Amino acid sequence: MAEYYVGLMSGTSVDAIDAVLVDLAENAPKILQTYSYPFPRDVHKEIISLCEITDNEIVRTGMLDMQLGHLFANATRTLLANADVDPSTVIAIGSHGQTIRHQPEGDHPFSLQIGNPAIIALQTGINTVADFRNADIAAGGQGAPLVPAFHDQAFGSSGVNRVILNIGGIANITALPADTHQVTGFDTGPGNTLMDAWMQEYFNASYDDGGRLAHQGTINKALLNSLLQDPYFAQTPPKSTGREYFNLSWLSDYLEQLDATFEPQNILSTLTELSALTIANAINQHAPATTEVLVCGGGTKNQYLLSRLSDLLGTCNVDTTQKYGLDPDWVEAVAFAWLAKQAVEGKPGNIPSVTGAKYPVVLGGIYKALKT
Ligand SMILES: Nc1ncnc2c1ncn2[C@@H]1O[C@H](COP(=O)(O)OP(=O)(O)O)[C@@H](O)[C@H]1O
Ligand SMILES: [Mg+2]
Repeated sequence: MAEYYVGLMSGTSVDAIDAVLVDLAENAPKILQTYSYPFPRDVHKEIISLCEITDNEIVRTGMLDMQLGHLFANATRTLLANADVDPSTVIAIGSHGQTIRHQPEGDHPFSLQIGNPAIIALQTGINTVADFRNADIAAGGQGAPLVPAFHDQAFGSSGVNRVILNIGGIANITALPADTHQVTGFDTGPGNTLMDAWMQEYFNASYDDGGRLAHQGTINKALLNSLLQDPYFAQTPPKSTGREYFNLSWLSDYLEQLDATFEPQNILSTLTELSALTIANAINQHAPATTEVLVCGGGTKNQYLLSRLSDLLGTCNVDTTQKYGLDPDWVEAVAFAWLAKQAVEGKPGNIPSVTGAKYPVVLGGIYKALKT
């Protein structure tokens, strides 16, 4: 018997809503259909704007929450129509939502994802699991990263010391040791977000296609060393971060300190190296016995970044999750489909050794569809 779930993911890159239809009946997830819906320009702009302190946040957040609910529902309906699958055969949707603020430290830590799940459930007729991070935070965790449990299920117990590396806007690693079940993982820092922001500011493009521009530039060692001093990189896990921390204003603070002029292309090369180096350092430091790194996320399309990573990781083999049959573009969306299944079945979705939560908890709230 097939078990259909839909995963909806839109990460810190704010590039698109990734919708995936997946059969989770067997241990290995089977991707049946995918659909990527690029954010309309005005929605993209409003999301980015609400990620920072801005005017009239409550009303704008409320409105965007409803608007995104409709967009997520539409993405799901298109996905299912393309797959010729009746919504009534789908057990649940797992919708990550769009993060507009992630504040896991300090007094009253919180993480806010929007994309109204009541709208999604009503418009699709499918039970919708959303708001995945709250329960982990309530249990004392960072609420992030949440994908390691799925990484473990899909790629763990392989007999080798393996790391799953997701390079989205932010990069996160999951270390899956060969001989224990002690899964660890955390956000290493910037993945694509700084490079993307720089491309948008100076090169009128959304991203550095294939990493070609960065490849032709020159890494500025002084700037790189200064960026590496940022306390986030030395902080011990559990830790998680977002675009409210790693953004262009973070970068300009460091640029101003150095008080020199820089070529935009060389800054891009330096930002690419920063991502590669902080990921490699995190793996070398926290999972030194790793022999295989499997990469997923949009960063897999940046060949220059991957080749720098491979160089920095020495003898460790760097490949994508495709090696084991899972398309790297869809791992995160599949993870949220899987987390929906965990929620529906009343099983935990967090890993306390990753998020710092005191206990394993069931993640997400279930919004019941009104079946007519
Ligand atoms: N052809 C490409 N070359 C380089 N980078 C790319 C390419 N295609 C996509 N990307 C990068 O991947 C990002 C999207 O990755 P994704 O995994 O969706 O991240 P997120 O989960 O944060 O949304 C884009 O913003 C871009 O930085
Ligand atoms: Mg994305």
